[in-house]
Amino acid sequence: MILDNRLFFPATQRNKDSIEAVLSRIIKKNGSILEIGSGSGEHGVFFQKRFPKIIWQTSDRELVNRKSISSWINYEDLNKKMPQPIVIDVEKIPWEISPKLVNALQGIVSINMIHVAQWKSTISLFREAGKLLNKEKFLFLYGPFKVGNKHTSQSNYFFDQSLKTQNHLWGIRNLEEVSYEGKKNGFFQEDVISMPANNFSIIYRKVY
Ligand SMILES: C[S@@+](CC[C@H](N)C(=O)[O-])C[C@H]1O[C@@H](n2cnc3c(N)ncnc32)[C@H](O)[C@@H]1O
Repeated sequence: MILDNRLFFPATQRNKDSIEAVLSRIIKKNGSILEIGSGSGEHGVFFQKRFPKIIWQTSDRELVNRKSISSWINYEDLNKKMPQPIVIDVEKIPWEISPKLVNALQGIVSINMIHVAQWKSTISLFREAGKLLNKEKFLFLYGPFKVGNKHTSQSNYFFDQSLKTQNHLWGIRNLEEVSYEGKKNGFFQEDVISMPANNFSIIYRKVY
């Protein structure tokens, strides 16, 4: 008997359609996507079904999340199509990923991750993505951001305060500083898309 370890993240169910609308503009038909900080796996199985020709590779540093992802893959009957989640802690570089995945990579996706991790995680994310992705490949980030070092809404201000009380190293990041990390690692900020509930989708494209 396979245990049902599925986790349910309400925000993930709310934002998956709007994120899918943005991803459908940039995801090409073939190849693989590596998702960093996949959480419950609800996004992963949803995007795998929406983009059936690509391979959606989930990852998370937490075992409880990887178990949930496996359960979601099983529940959605995607075992034949979708690989099992891999262990990636963005800060532990180099990430242990197979050469096969590296060769097939068309982009890296990370949703609602960098504000629930220390700033060092953002630095590592761009460093490693910069090494793994060739010219014209993308790094997609989704979440709340400050712009010009200012919150874009009062609710984001309160959210930021609550993050910092949970962990003083967490917090909503400033878009310009995030994009500067991108620039240092060969990415240009191709697009910034306003999303529901005061979030943004940010598309970075590798220049070389
Ligand atoms: C708020 S959850 C978002 C999960 C999922 N992406 C979603 O949108 O439903 C944040 C995720 O980031 C992951 N995370 C935090 N720090 C990380 C790190 N250093 N490396 C990899 N994942 C990390 C957590 O394990 C968690 O799955």
